[in-house]
Amino acid sequence: MEQTFFMIKPDGTRRNLVGEIISRIEKKGLEIKAMKMMQISNRLAKKHYAEHIDKPFFSDLKEFITSGPVVAMVVEGPGAIKIVRRMMGQTDPAESTPGSIRGDYALSIDRNVVHGSDSPESAEREIDLFFSEDEII
Ligand code: TYD
Ligand code: MG
Repeated sequence: MEQTFFMIKPDGTRRNLVGEIISRIEKKGLEIKAMKMMQISNRLAKKHYAEHIDKPFFSDLKEFITSGPVVAMVVEGPGAIKIVRRMMGQTDPAESTPGSIRGDYALSIDRNVVHGSDSPESAEREIDLFFSEDEII
C-alpha cells in the first residue's frame, strides 16, 4: 500500500468543490487515512513549496495558498501517488484532459484546485509536514 499527500487548494474550497473532489477519490477506491481543513501559514507554505522558492511565480503562489482554507488529506491505495496525479491532470489546466480534476474544474495554472505529491520522497515529506502520526488512521 502506498500513501500520498493530497490537498484541495483555497480556490477549491471557495468554489464549494470539496465534496465533488473527495467523492472522486472515494469512488476510485482510494482510502482517506487522514483529513483536515486548515489555513496554511507563510512558514508552512515556504516549506511545502520549498522547491519553488526561487521561481518567479513563488510570491503569488504563497499568497494564493495562504489566502483561504485548504483541505489536506493522506490518501492510500496501491500506486496512490501516480493514480492521484493522473486523476488531477496536468499542472496547467489548459493541458489537462477533460475527466481529470483540473481538466474539469480549472482554467489557469495559478488556480488549479488541487495538489498531489509527485514522488514517494515528496509524499513522505509532505505527509510529515501536514500531519502528526496520531492524526493518521
Ligand atoms: P508544480 O509543482 O510544478 O506543479 P504541480 O502542482 O502539478 O505539482 O508547481 C506547484 C504549483 O505552482 C502549481 O500547482 C501551480 C503553481 N505554478 C504557477 O503558478 N505557475 C507556474 O508556471 C508553475 C510551473 C506552477
Ligand atoms: Mg509539484
